[in-house]
Amino acid sequence: MTRVAGADVRSGFWEEQLAHAKRCDADDELRAFRDRFYVAPERIYLDGNSLGLLSHEAEAAVLRVLGEWREQGIDGWSGGAPPWYDLAERLAPGIAGLVGAREHEVIATGSTTVNLHQLLATFYRPQTARQVLLVDAQNFPSDLYAAQSHVALHGGAGALHPGSASQAQAPESATAPTLRVVPGRDGLVGVADLMQALGDDVAVAFFSSVQYRSGQLMPIREIVERAHRVGAIVGFDLSHGIGAVPHQLHDDGVDFAFWCHYKYLGSGPGAVGGLFVHERHHERWPGLAGWWGSHKERQFDMAPTFDPASGVGRFQIGTPHLLSLAPLEGSLKIFAEAGIGRIRDKSLALTELLMTLVDGLDRSLGFSIETPRNPGARGGHVAVRHMEAARVAKALKARGIIPDFRPPDVVRLAPVALYTRFEDVVTTVRALEQIVTTREHERFDEGRAVIA
Ligand SMILES: Cc1ncc(COP(=O)(O)O)c(C=O)c1O
Repeated sequence: MTRVAGADVRSGFWEEQLAHAKRCDADDELRAFRDRFYVAPERIYLDGNSLGLLSHEAEAAVLRVLGEWREQGIDGWSGGAPPWYDLAERLAPGIAGLVGAREHEVIATGSTTVNLHQLLATFYRPQTARQVLLVDAQNFPSDLYAAQSHVALHGGAGALHPGSASQAQAPESATAPTLRVVPGRDGLVGVADLMQALGDDVAVAFFSSVQYRSGQLMPIREIVERAHRVGAIVGFDLSHGIGAVPHQLHDDGVDFAFWCHYKYLGSGPGAVGGLFVHERHHERWPGLAGWWGSHKERQFDMAPTFDPASGVGRFQIGTPHLLSLAPLEGSLKIFAEAGIGRIRDKSLALTELLMTLVDGLDRSLGFSIETPRNPGARGGHVAVRHMEAARVAKALKARGIIPDFRPPDVVRLAPVALYTRFEDVVTTVRALEQIVTTREHERFDEGRAVIA
């Protein structure tokens, strides 16, 4: 293929695609939600699966809490509207609707990694015949580090010790706590491999509902059935699922789950996370107790012994970070109006269009797709592979199209149903074609920034 600087190959084709996309946008039932977000006019933001954009509602909720702090000081804990003291509990109905839980099974608390530590401290109690903590290699690194640390805390081979590159390489022991890692298959989790690894020596297994890199959506119910058949506890990290994909945590019988609210949920950088524990485990004592897990009516008795809340609230540890919790209140209003079903339908249509257009690019340009095609196996973002992914991502960014890069070769693109238009998808894939055709990406260095 001849590469001519500045050439816009197939302009007729792209104009047609754009016209079609604009018709889809005009018919889109969710189109009005875009105006509720701060979307920079000249930008196409495709990183809402990393940090969602700010909505007017989320902003208003933070400003309200700031005002309450300014006007009321300490009295905001009871005098805020709603009171800060049980704001986390008050947000549970909105969260429960998104993840298919009962209200007393979910709580906004902690952060993703801290919540995982809490859940592993609660559920991972290796015993003679059940020593294994099972994870998959595609999981987010922080989750793997947390898993390694719990195996080490129970006296298993310490992956965290210098010189031991990865627990995955440590030989499994039948008599000591062990981390078992299901290896990946060409960037994806092999579901059959995972099922096979889920043997009756597994104490706890946990996976991501949607993989952070590939966007692969896991068959949660099947995994839970298998885990429970062998007597294991099973949990999921919903960070890349919540707000993009509906979950049915209660009905699927999931034992525990955890997630962040700063991606699709748009609750701001470092926003307070979320945690689910199935009601059948509500008698369990939290592995990591703290006073915010107390029974709400007796917390201020200041008793020296822990008197836990009856529901999932007992798994909270310390005072909620109010300024990072408040935005969630605003975001949940938007999700309640839009409905996760409609969000999922539009998200699937956007990712379908994206994948079809990438598939249509000349093969010599070197793009391929890692994300599963089957709508039942894909979440809300698409992993586009390219040998020069780092530089292609930078070139996109220089054009005002915001993706992210995941090493070694993935440009992650997340068209977020609440604020991405079909026309944005067309413009993005057209830009990918132009960038590589004209070698625009070669103007950027290969190194990645510290972040992305
Ligand atoms: C899937 C997944 N799990 C865990 C984390 C870690 O989250 P946190 O930094 O909020 O603990 C992230 C962060 O992006 C993530 O994407």
